[in-house]
Amino acid sequence: MIKIDTEQGLVIIEEGDVSETHPIGTPEAFSILSKVWLRSGWDNKHVYSFSWLGRPVIQLPEDMFRVQEVIFQVKPDVIIETGVAHGGSLIFYAGLFKAMGRGRVIGIDIEIRPHNRKAIEAHPLFEAITLIEGSSIEPRIVKEVKSLVQPGENVLVMLDSNHTKAHVLAELEAYSDMVSVGSYIVAADGIMGDLVGAPRSEADWDWNNPKTAAEEFVKSKSNFIMEDPPLPFNEGQIRERVTYWPGAWLRRVK
Ligand SMILES: C[S@@+](CC[C@H](N)C(=O)[O-])C[C@H]1O[C@@H](n2cnc3c(N)ncnc32)[C@H](O)[C@@H]1O
Repeated sequence: MIKIDTEQGLVIIEEGDVSETHPIGTPEAFSILSKVWLRSGWDNKHVYSFSWLGRPVIQLPEDMFRVQEVIFQVKPDVIIETGVAHGGSLIFYAGLFKAMGRGRVIGIDIEIRPHNRKAIEAHPLFEAITLIEGSSIEPRIVKEVKSLVQPGENVLVMLDSNHTKAHVLAELEAYSDMVSVGSYIVAADGIMGDLVGAPRSEADWDWNNPKTAAEEFVKSKSNFIMEDPPLPFNEGQIRERVTYWPGAWLRRVK
């Protein structure tokens, strides 16, 4: 059980006979409160309330801010994203590329609904975007994506489609060889592992999620490590991310 004593400025966590008390201004209290906030946000569908330059983006804003930091540091020529939905994340990446004067985005979705396609294609940033419809792990689709990337291009991959362990593992196998050394393949939404029992969750999410897929993948590959990207700026005390993407960041090291 977690208790918040706002008068004393304390966060108290009790498990059985064990109790820990943390002043509210400590990283430990922030971590506990963030986990409660994330769970409440999931239950309330908080991430379904944001848009970027007119298109809905189903992400936690902190994750988008963090991925922006990585994109500016890695400076990819191409971002490949599986899972388009309304296209907000594609528009977000395309906008960063426009500001950076480089880069294009390839988005793959098993179903690009006509109204979403129409809105994405009509968007002022569409010139930097290629849409591909089909399952991200279908060999024909993987081949098509590969044909759009030139040898030597700097590539970053975002996996945000079907979040089962098997599907994410198959995506990691299919797309990881396109990732450049120093860049990342990102398996989004590992938070599922912490959401068993929540509304809209499944009983097997404790193991059947993108984080377990990423963990299994890195165990078998010597050229990738699981590592949160360094923060380019941090004058505060908080080191831990408030994220839907725990265990998501796989950096190619060779
Ligand atoms: C979480 S949404 C993507 C959200 C989007 N990236 C954003 O940030 O707004 C997941 C999408 O994955 C798509 N999807 C599900 N299974 C897929 C598959 N096998 N291949 C490609 N896309 C798939 C769904 O159609 C859905 O649009």
